[in-house]
Amino acid sequence: MKKLVVELGERRYPIYIGEGLLARADLLRPHVAGRQVLIVTNDMVAPLYLQKAQAIFAGLQCHTVVLPDGEQYKTFEVLNRIFDSLLENQCDRRVTLVALGGGVVGDMAGFAAACYQRGVPFIQIPTTLLAQVDSSVGGKTGVNHPLGKNMIGAFHQPNCVLIDTATLNTLPDRELSAGLAEVIKYGLIRDPAFLDWLEKNMDGLLRRDAASLADAIERSCRNKAEVVAADERESGERALLNLGHTFGHAIETGMGYGVWLHGEAVAAGMCMAAALSARLGWIGAADLARMESIIGRARLPVRGPAALEPARMLELMAVDKKAQEGRIRLVLLKAVGKAVVTADYDPALLREVLTAYREG
Ligand SMILES: NC(=O)c1ccc[n+]([C@@H]2O[C@H](COP(=O)([O-])OP(=O)(O)OC[C@H]3O[C@@H](n4cnc5c(N)ncnc54)[C@H](O)[C@@H]3O)[C@@H](O)[C@H]2O)c1
Ligand SMILES: [Zn+2]
Repeated sequence: MKKLVVELGERRYPIYIGEGLLARADLLRPHVAGRQVLIVTNDMVAPLYLQKAQAIFAGLQCHTVVLPDGEQYKTFEVLNRIFDSLLENQCDRRVTLVALGGGVVGDMAGFAAACYQRGVPFIQIPTTLLAQVDSSVGGKTGVNHPLGKNMIGAFHQPNCVLIDTATLNTLPDRELSAGLAEVIKYGLIRDPAFLDWLEKNMDGLLRRDAASLADAIERSCRNKAEVVAADERESGERALLNLGHTFGHAIETGMGYGVWLHGEAVAAGMCMAAALSARLGWIGAADLARMESIIGRARLPVRGPAALEPARMLELMAVDKKAQEGRIRLVLLKAVGKAVVTADYDPALLREVLTAYREG
């Protein structure tokens, strides 16, 4: 087992990574203070892992709420079902919420924990690669609004994150690839040596070689934990984690939630960000080609959907929270392994990229 710590002073918490950790009640139980637990999961994950999770909390009052599966259900309406369950079961302020599932379940359970009685503890048990390398760490929680992705939310850190890498064995290939988009992101924004490693190990990751996956998860969580510890509330460095996301969120919202997976939209978005960086002369054509190659090898899209015209993309991108004072702030690359946040670019070049980076 590997253990990392997210260093946030009195809110510091551990990330446990290893195969079979869902059987390790001894790791989780110390993070439950009260007698009540509410497990939040969905109808895809419940048949696979709910029993194991419930066994961890044997002897406590353990309730469960099973949400419908899918990004289109990451809404305020569905969130309310968690509050219904908390109140129906008379949960008090010492209840611990447990998120068992991917990023959708994690973001919703975390947001419910941030709101219920003005904040109760929660634990993340992420079961997708994307959630294990990104969304379960760092305390960003929330739901989507029909007009914009993740627009309603709160910062609320978990008490601990338990990553059982064996859960990846049941994950569909398409979801594995989506998770790899966020893994590659760390290499691009701040860890060029990791990018080299990914180029050497991509085939093993796609084959689900257990050791390679565990290494990639640990290295990703280490990057995420460092960034979050340095800038918990995203006043600076943390914004770099949004590489490709302003483009990606526009794709997700524009196509309808769930049509393009988050990781797929981010992958295409990272290519667009890199293409703009190349047009600004910050990275070379070879750097751009290298990026598109690793993203393509991860079986991810390197172009946006044909259905979204550049003008529509721009409109959707302006809604994203990275837009300030009317200018769309973007995470761009000064070099491979070095990202910056800037609104200082020629908008005509952005338009050019949106036109060139459309499928079909
Ligand atoms: N909070 C953050 O910092 C942050 C960061 C990145 C992404 N996100 C959010 O995370 C979400 C995407 O997360 P995701 O990619 O995990 O999607 P997801 O939660 O929809 O999970 C993907 C699919 O895999 C299924 N699944 C989960 N675990 C499984 C398993 N072990 N075996 C088989 N199937 C399994 C799910 O039910 C779902 O159908 C987006 O809403 C995105 O905005 C949040
Ligand atoms: Zn993301």
